[in-house]
Amino acid sequence: MELEGFVSKSYRDHDDPLKFSWSSPSNIALIKYWGKNKDQTPRNSSISFTLSSCNTKTSIVFSKIEKQIDAVNFTISYDGNIKNDFRPKIEKYFASIIKYCPYLLNYNLEINTKNTFPHSSGIASSASGMSALSLCIMSFEKEISEEQFSTDFFFLKASFLSRIGSGSACRSIYGGFNIWGKHKDFEQSSDLYSLPINQSIAQEFQKFQDTILIVDENQKDVSSSAGHSLMDNHPFSMDRYEIAYKNTSALKIILEKGDLFAFCELVEKEAMMLHSLMMTSHPSYILMKPETLEIIDEIKSFRNVNKVPVCFTLDAGANVHVLYPEKYSKSVLEFIISKLSKYCFQGKFITDHAGKGPKKI
Ligand code: DP6
Repeated sequence: MELEGFVSKSYRDHDDPLKFSWSSPSNIALIKYWGKNKDQTPRNSSISFTLSSCNTKTSIVFSKIEKQIDAVNFTISYDGNIKNDFRPKIEKYFASIIKYCPYLLNYNLEINTKNTFPHSSGIASSASGMSALSLCIMSFEKEISEEQFSTDFFFLKASFLSRIGSGSACRSIYGGFNIWGKHKDFEQSSDLYSLPINQSIAQEFQKFQDTILIVDENQKDVSSSAGHSLMDNHPFSMDRYEIAYKNTSALKIILEKGDLFAFCELVEKEAMMLHSLMMTSHPSYILMKPETLEIIDEIKSFRNVNKVPVCFTLDAGANVHVLYPEKYSKSVLEFIISKLSKYCFQGKFITDHAGKGPKKI
């Protein structure tokens, strides 16, 4: 779909306040998005799966205002308490989406949000937060729109708006596995939004588990946006984009065939490449902690000794996502408790798994 298709043209006023609420999950990337263009399109395709327990619940009350102003009028609360430090990111988001949702200028938006995972867990909330926000906006748009409004369009535009808020957020709109970024092996894939790719996934990957080991609870040393910009003048950027493109093709085949050990190898390679890019950028960042490396070693040897297809992936931080099929849950959780939890901050970890996607509440 072309950009113009996302501009909402014909809508009616709604005088009474309307409230919409969505719960939207975080997602974990297997092929990493790292490097973006000015319009928040990615430099390479990425593949992720949507989680279930780690999510953000957001509600928005839309109330008509008498006089239109030139920026979206809103309040933002976290769990009922006004949170003005969230404003700059949301102001920027509204300024960027207003050409696609011009009706927002006629309303006051009372936004209330809350994450199910602790704020200080080191888990990024931008994917779940921006997708939940965009879904509330789409529910409102659907209510006031005078145009034909299919379910497909509803989610496509929700993914499109989420991407503008935070790139990875566009991959949280659908359950299961998702692709974002134009790629020849995925028909209709786009840089503007993500699409679900569940039809062709082997049953070995259904109900895939992700246990997040909390190594570091602190906010990241480098924000995602600053991190992406490190790719602009990176000496390895061109090679990286080419490799990510090839890894996207390779992961597609692995997911279709159900090849669990090939999955482990590829997903770990992607995580290590992401961190090697950060280590070799200018300025450079080492975001792994000594405990992260201990955990990686333990996972590799557990896999080799026990022939269990368990692997790790990392985002731009020290925490480790341990990925494995549901049928190995018992042995992997025993392994996590006995061998890995000692490396976690206060022994903390969060068990999650591939989920069905956002829910209207
Ligand atoms: C390392 O989506 O958080 O988690 O678009 O600037 O909001 P912005 O970045 P963000 O980047 C996520 C990067 C990553 C890899 C991934 O999720 O693909």
